[in-house]
Amino acid sequence: MKTLLSAEEVREGVARLAGDISRDYVGRSLTIVGVLTGSIVLLADLIRLLDLPLRVGLVQAHSYRGPSTVRGALSVNADLMPEIADRHVLLVDDIFDTGHTLHELVSQLDELQPASIRSAVLLEKQERREVSLRPDYVAFEIPNKFVVGYGLDYNDQFRNLPYVAALDDDEVAGKGE
Ligand code: IMP
Ligand code: MG
Repeated sequence: MKTLLSAEEVREGVARLAGDISRDYVGRSLTIVGVLTGSIVLLADLIRLLDLPLRVGLVQAHSYRGPSTVRGALSVNADLMPEIADRHVLLVDDIFDTGHTLHELVSQLDELQPASIRSAVLLEKQERREVSLRPDYVAFEIPNKFVVGYGLDYNDQFRNLPYVAALDDDEVAGKGE
């Protein structure tokens, strides 16, 4: 695999996100909702850089199964979600690929009547978007490569890497769609 973003570059990108989010949410009742499992590293770093009163919730969504990188059906588990009615919600995920995950989560959470709902991601893949939604905060645009590290996994491995690396094509089964 090849390093795409060093730990230092990731740190700078997360600091940029935090700066933009802090500015936009001054004086508002913010609830940050991390999308399990890929968002855990970003979530932990991001919330410590936000100088705002906030609550943290979690929602589980997964679409990738086993050693394939092809997107499967999305399953959502909202049992760990706090009350979000009348609160400003920011969904945090590792990556915006086709966008189906965040699109589906935004429409499900919207039914709980938050005051507003936006999304923030570390990475957005260029030219992969299949939905009308765009993430509101993006730290890095990346090429269409399967990436791991900083929370992102391949077959549940590599989430602990402190940098983001792209797998070589011969390292992944069924890359892309
Ligand atoms: P989407 O629904 O196609 O936008 O996919 C979003 C989800 O797919 C993310 O939350 C990730 O869990 C996973 N995903 C998409 N691309 C990658 C990748 O390159 N590496 C690891 N996981 C990915
Ligand atoms: Mg994920």
